[in-house]
Amino acid sequence: MNDGADDSRRAAERARQPVRRDTTIREWPEAGLVVTGGPADPPSSVRVESGRVVEIDGRGEDRFDSIDRFIARHALDPQVAEEAMALSPLELARRLFHPDVEAPEVRRLFSGLTPARLVEVMGELDVLEMMLALRKMRLRNRTANQAHVTNLRDHPALLAADAAEAAARGFAEVETTVGVAGMAPFNAVAVLIGSQVGRPGVLTQAAVEEGVNLRLAMKGLVSYAETLSVYGNEESFRDGDDTPWSKSFLAAAYASRGVKVRFTSGSGSEVLLGHAHGQSMLYLEARCILLVKGAGSQGIQNGAISCIALPLSLPRGIHGVLAENLMAASVGLEVASGNDAMSSHSEMRKTAKLMLQMLPGTDFVTSGYSVMPRQDNLFGGGNFDSNDLDAWTAIQRDLGVDGGITPVDEGEIGRVRRRAAEAVQATWAEMGFPAIGDEEVTAAVDARDSGDLPPRAQSADAAAARQFLDSSATVLDLAAALGRRGFAREAEALVALTRQRAAGDYLQPSGILVEDGPDLAAASAINDPHRYRGPGTGYRVEGERRRELESVPFALDPRTLGRVEDAEDLFVEERDAAPGRETEVVVALGPALGARLQRTLGELPHRDVVEAVLEGLREEQVPARLVRVRDTADCAFIGHEGARLSGSGVAIGIQSRGTAVIHQRDLAPLDNLELLSHAPSLTLDSYRALGRNAARYARGQSTEPVPVRIDNMARLKYIVQSTLLHRAEVEATTPGARAVEVVLRAREEGA
Ligand code: 5AD
Ligand code: CA
Repeated sequence: MNDGADDSRRAAERARQPVRRDTTIREWPEAGLVVTGGPADPPSSVRVESGRVVEIDGRGEDRFDSIDRFIARHALDPQVAEEAMALSPLELARRLFHPDVEAPEVRRLFSGLTPARLVEVMGELDVLEMMLALRKMRLRNRTANQAHVTNLRDHPALLAADAAEAAARGFAEVETTVGVAGMAPFNAVAVLIGSQVGRPGVLTQAAVEEGVNLRLAMKGLVSYAETLSVYGNEESFRDGDDTPWSKSFLAAAYASRGVKVRFTSGSGSEVLLGHAHGQSMLYLEARCILLVKGAGSQGIQNGAISCIALPLSLPRGIHGVLAENLMAASVGLEVASGNDAMSSHSEMRKTAKLMLQMLPGTDFVTSGYSVMPRQDNLFGGGNFDSNDLDAWTAIQRDLGVDGGITPVDEGEIGRVRRRAAEAVQATWAEMGFPAIGDEEVTAAVDARDSGDLPPRAQSADAAAARQFLDSSATVLDLAAALGRRGFAREAEALVALTRQRAAGDYLQPSGILVEDGPDLAAASAINDPHRYRGPGTGYRVEGERRRELESVPFALDPRTLGRVEDAEDLFVEERDAAPGRETEVVVALGPALGARLQRTLGELPHRDVVEAVLEGLREEQVPARLVRVRDTADCAFIGHEGARLSGSGVAIGIQSRGTAVIHQRDLAPLDNLELLSHAPSLTLDSYRALGRNAARYARGQSTEPVPVRIDNMARLKYIVQSTLLHRAEVEATTPGARAVEVVLRAREEGA
């Protein structure tokens, strides 16, 4: 490079950082590689004649394509279209944002907006404004989350254990898919039974080919379907032989069996399929959203989903993804807001993106959190996985937000995993499916991933799964099997789920099931809507939920952490300390040093530390005097008090946590000759060197400072311990007490 800057060592290291493994591109609008403002995006318009929408976004009905027609007939409300479209995008954005304009009024107005106008409105908002608007517009009162449960082997015991764990951790929906297509019925049964062990009422689905999925639905083995993909133009639809009408028909088929329906769309799919035609990702997604609304779906899974890396490669990609979620909520759809597929190599970038949905809280913060290690995630997902659960719950605790994952201790996780694996083992035995051995159950409970499970004949499983699918057996046969084997609670949960499918109360936007005494009840946008009107309103993390989210199992009790010891004082107090006259160095000790506290932050015994300092002084042949300072716990003042008493005017001050200073009488208390503040990195050699240096200062010589290692993590690692040690030291002070001269007791035999 010309000036050498581009290939500096720092530049080279930056080029190796995770974010640089993401592909970042400039816009190419003509190719559809643009988030908003595609050259072929139409300007917004609407025309209504005799209660009929006859123009959308510059196109008259004679030129409607099938998506325009569907939106005009089924998504746009002709009663409000002209009123709403008469408002400017900025005014609409203000109403969307402002807490005083309540969500139902926003939804009323937005039911009259065309796709192009929805995009224009989003363009008036920055991400923070969109987050606040999304919080207001979320349909269900309480946020929730959705989990992925799959594994490379389609192992039923492992699927059940993982589904149970997901349910115990609070996921409201658990979905599986297959490695081998023929396994779909067994995978569906395994997550169904497993999830009910973890928590009755968790909804499950198997994302498989629609024909199989419908048959699973008719058997009562799945509670929701999220497999209905839609696209923003006809060409993209055509690849799947689909139209808005065929998708609506399919949705109705699911709903008729009590299966909740959520469509899937998201930025990037059309350009990925080669059909963007110069239209922007967000404009095409706005068409999808209205199409989904028109199809009568309860909700939508959007936010780019599997295409997430595509908008992320472009400027304002995440602005656009948040806009997708917000547009969907604004037209009354439940939102499962993405964060499922891998979005970046960079943890920092992934977390930044996550905040846009986690902070406002959506109906499902992720559209699939990989409860197992991502190498077993058959959705090609795993943006967040089992290794990230603790960080997720730590973030919830830090921010006081509910991201839909409840912290649970590992003992409880182990119990539900075992019961789920055993429930599936028992069901398989009762149903005459290929046996699941005890060693498979144990391996499933303890496994890190499916590689830890013993081999299993998948062809036999697939054949039995096919037979089961073709048989007349239903969810009720599974419940009966569970009941016969002592899994009464789980049997009852399957029956309760089946009753819910018949009642259909959860076939409302944002419907989930919650435990209601011994039964289940639906919580949805209809009976538990979110009502946000600014501070003090809306869903708040408080009461029992707050305690739950704050109780991460890895939180320690600080009362048991301090190192206050019951050991004998290492020192014998002799007399009040008086000023010395000779060339000496006073070693001034903190009030708790060697007494209530006996080790430094770095776990060095106080006796060894003091002996090392004395040894250093002895090496330089300068006499030492030990003094315990009693009225301050502050290292600088301990050292300064020592210096005041020292014949040479030089003293070493040592705090119990190990921080040490070389002080001199004529320096201000907060000044010093040398300070060893990195207590945890200090070794006995450091203290010996400190002794030698103090001796040289006492003789008026100059010397090189004691070398110290910088550990950037030290403060982070030790700040709590340091606080607790300092607290004990402060507690050991006696205000106004004078320093006393002390001597070190002889080491006990064998000590
Ligand atoms: N648009 C439409 N469908 C999508 N899916 C994922 N992302 C999108 C998108 N952006 C569908 C795919 C995939 C499933 C998880 O959801 O069909 O298989
Ligand atoms: Ca999903």
